[in-house]
Amino acid sequence: MKTTPLIRNSNSPIGMFDSGVGGLTLLKSIKRILPNEQLIYFGDTARLPYGTKSPKVVQNFSLQIAKFLVGFKIKSLVIACHTASSAALSNLKIKLDIPVIGVIEPSAQKAVTTTKNQKIGVIGTKTTIESGSYQSFIQKINPKISITTVAAPLLVPLVEEGWVNKGATRIILKEYVAPFKKAQIDTLILGCTHYPLIKQLFRRELGPKVFLIDASIETALYLKKLLNKKSLINNGISTPDYRFYVSDDPDKFSRLAQIFLGEKIEAVKPVDLENWGY
Ligand code: DGL
Repeated sequence: MKTTPLIRNSNSPIGMFDSGVGGLTLLKSIKRILPNEQLIYFGDTARLPYGTKSPKVVQNFSLQIAKFLVGFKIKSLVIACHTASSAALSNLKIKLDIPVIGVIEPSAQKAVTTTKNQKIGVIGTKTTIESGSYQSFIQKINPKISITTVAAPLLVPLVEEGWVNKGATRIILKEYVAPFKKAQIDTLILGCTHYPLIKQLFRRELGPKVFLIDASIETALYLKKLLNKKSLINNGISTPDYRFYVSDDPDKFSRLAQIFLGEKIEAVKPVDLENWGY
């Protein structure tokens, strides 16, 4: 998938995608940290969740979406989904000739520089945890760090139901964080797009001494550094613009966006990726 770099410049948009609405937590941070950027967001709402699917399937979906986004002459691609970052980052880096970033490396780097006792926890979807992506990024930086991982498949549907403050969610979360308490971690990577919304529940369960890594913030900061290095930061000549595409049910996406972004998204366009003319 070789592209045409000449027509890209710092005013070109950034493409980003997630399995659904979760990636809006990252979009929110990018809006705040890089306020002049134009963003084109794709949510694969027809095929979510990714977190229970095999890496090969997620890799194929990701490639299809990347092809769609590259059509907008994007200057860089952000994989906002932890599962897709785990399964498809290296493949997309090879296939695209624009900078591609995922959410794993920025969070892993932050965790390694944050931990004092060299004990880090990672919580995420089943596919993310089983891929070993966080483990290998962390151990590449510091092989002495001990890592405790937990797959938490029940949290995504609870957050999407808006159950961020319910007793049931607290009980389930308590079960999931028990191994982290036992391992006495001092740093926890919230390795899923949905977890920033229940950060306060993690805080409550783990106490103030465990540092919580919010991938949406770390990835937005990492993106800023990368664009700066490549002289691709938008200089503010064009007005910031946000466009949203989904593979199913734009209205549901708009509704859920309230929870994830804290604001209503008006224009969400449906796209049939299977028949997208490539
Ligand atoms: N966006 C996914 C992630 O961050 C969570 C939702 C899903 O399983 O599709 O891993």
